[in-house]
Amino acid sequence: MRVCVLISGSGSNLQALINARDEGRIDIVSVISNRADAMGLERANRAGIPTTILEHQRFAQRNQFDRALCVLISACHPDLVVLAGFMRIIGSAVLDPFKGRMINLHPSLLPRYRGTDTYQRALEAGDREHGASIHFVTGELDGGPVISQVRIPVLAGDDKHTLAARLAPMEHKLIVSTIDFFTQHQLESGDDGIFLDGDKLLQPLQLHEENGKMILK
Ligand code: GRF
Repeated sequence: MRVCVLISGSGSNLQALINARDEGRIDIVSVISNRADAMGLERANRAGIPTTILEHQRFAQRNQFDRALCVLISACHPDLVVLAGFMRIIGSAVLDPFKGRMINLHPSLLPRYRGTDTYQRALEAGDREHGASIHFVTGELDGGPVISQVRIPVLAGDDKHTLAARLAPMEHKLIVSTIDFFTQHQLESGDDGIFLDGDKLLQPLQLHEENGKMILK
């Protein structure tokens, strides 16, 4: 599984993927960041993974950035493109060529709370659980079909920082387990939802711990 990872920030999810790579589970062929100061670039450099910085501010128009991004991604021939904290909306110049092969990690139980500030919004709504989702990327912001999720309880006294801190390690497990799942199964995004080994997926896969192992089912 050749994976190209897109980042914008600290890259803690990228680090989880690098750790999985070190165990021989995946091959990270390229890391692309739209921010030159993303800490994830250092993580990739330390791991010997080729990196590219493509700063969106250098492009007058959104679709010019998208076209340049598409050229970069295509050049590394990925099986899967993983948006791990990539804070940039991308358009059809990238989405069309990689339809069904591009996934995004989002810190909410989609379809709840697309966009930003998900922790605060969950707290304000009085939700008893929060979580993260991985979905196929489509033209709709955080709106593509959801592949997998992990849930955590909201505890009394939680604020957005404690909630985010408890979710982060679960996001790391989710992203690695989901990519493992791609290596073991056929996951396809069709007009009518997601198909898992040919059968329609009726609800997102949920991450569980069983006998010390993380399982998606
Ligand atoms: C994660 O919370 C992810 O859900 C969101 O951005 C954050 C990325 O964190 N899309 P990191 O850069 O991987 O540490």
